[in-house]
Amino acid sequence: MVKRGSFIVFEGIDGCGKSTQVTLLVDAIAAAGHETLATFEPTNGTYGQQIRHNARAGKEIDPEVELNWFEQDRHEHVENVLEPALNEGCVVVCDRYYLSTVAYQGARGLDWEGILGSNAAAFPTPDLVLLIEMPTDQSQRRLSQRSGPAEPTFENQSFQERVDVIFKKLSLPYIERIDGSGTPEQVHQRVCDAVRARLQLL
Ligand code: TYD
Repeated sequence: MVKRGSFIVFEGIDGCGKSTQVTLLVDAIAAAGHETLATFEPTNGTYGQQIRHNARAGKEIDPEVELNWFEQDRHEHVENVLEPALNEGCVVVCDRYYLSTVAYQGARGLDWEGILGSNAAAFPTPDLVLLIEMPTDQSQRRLSQRSGPAEPTFENQSFQERVDVIFKKLSLPYIERIDGSGTPEQVHQRVCDAVRARLQLL
């Protein structure tokens, strides 16, 4: 039987530099000789596309409907991508997972502790969540420097501050908080130190 793979997740507010860190970590783990898979939520599946389409258009969706879409998207992702890869022994690195639902849909006024409870019961537990931390004014500056148009629903500063408050409240054994300041390479070194301390991969 193949040994079950490891499941690593990156979380953080928009503009914290997460996506760059996903790529750097996947490359480092692959260079250490492991099978890897980089993936993300919301996915490009039916629900994920709907979510992105609405967010870009700035359409106000009922928070409960939005929650349902993110969870449906996650069900598809777990069943079609995450579980098969973990069962094949892959190291899976995922850009956002259920703690984003906790923080973002919590910031939309839903009961974040309830969301955490139901998601933790329904979906595989990550081995490690790397929560990239950065002051919201800094992440907002980064977002405004990005070439693409700002995405109005989730990326405005007051909303990001509410997301940040919930991320700060989370206290779970699998969360490792990473200082997101400095160059991508400096943050990557902090990420690698955390991965080394927690998992035998690097
Ligand atoms: P993001 O990873 O930022 O995608 P992209 O890099 O394509 O912009 O995710 C899109 C937005 O969706 C982001 O603002 C966070 C939000 N989100 C939720 O509100 N709930 C969730 O469960 C997830 C996974 C993401």
